[in-house]
Amino acid sequence: MPDIVKKAGNKDLRIWSAGCSSGEEPYTLAIIIDEFFGKEKLFWDSKILATDISSRMLEKAQKRIYGNEEIAALPVNWRLSYFSKYDQDRSVISDRIRNEVIFRRFNLMEKCFPFKRKFHVIFCRNVMIYFNNETKWELLENFQCFALQQKHQSPVGSGLQQHNCRTLFHTWSVQHYGRFSGKGELLILFQDFLLNSSN
Ligand SMILES: C[S@@+](CC[C@H](N)C(=O)[O-])C[C@H]1O[C@@H](n2cnc3c(N)ncnc32)[C@H](O)[C@@H]1O
Repeated sequence: MPDIVKKAGNKDLRIWSAGCSSGEEPYTLAIIIDEFFGKEKLFWDSKILATDISSRMLEKAQKRIYGNEEIAALPVNWRLSYFSKYDQDRSVISDRIRNEVIFRRFNLMEKCFPFKRKFHVIFCRNVMIYFNNETKWELLENFQCFALQQKHQSPVGSGLQQHNCRTLFHTWSVQHYGRFSGKGELLILFQDFLLNSSN
């Protein structure tokens, strides 16, 4: 978060969860942001755009109801602060976190991306597994067009793959991400790293 925030001027942070499925990913990001900013959050516009091709998944995401077992691996303070009881077996995410996420249907295979502004970070995890190589590269080109660029390398993560000698894909090992129970999962984060010529 500190690295990402450094890139965001005017208290305006734009994050896209591309292929958000049933919402665990964008809600987790919203919780991380809320926790990071604390009271400062009031002064930030940090809404998360969450897109998926599946209307069924988007509907589920917007209902924001998850089984208690699904959220069992989350930190206790997250469960207490950001969830409340829905029924015996399920919990619902707080309105505050729900309101931080904008859900839209969008097919990542579209040639033309309809966004007006670029993003500070684009998360796209376990989505490209569905695509052939050609489509993957097309998508990466599009992501690159919609990621803000900075002129130095971020200290986070390690380079996984290079694209056009300009973009690095980073892996982060995180404890809670995506499916709420994803302990120790690898998160693939696309970010906008402009490589130095020495790299
Ligand atoms: C395995 S889920 C990953 C969800 C989330 N990123 C995570 O890691 O928890 C993959 C999601 O990609 C979506 N998806 C597949 N093809 C897509 C496409 N062409 N455009 C947008 N979303 C797509 C699926 O509907 C599904 O919800």
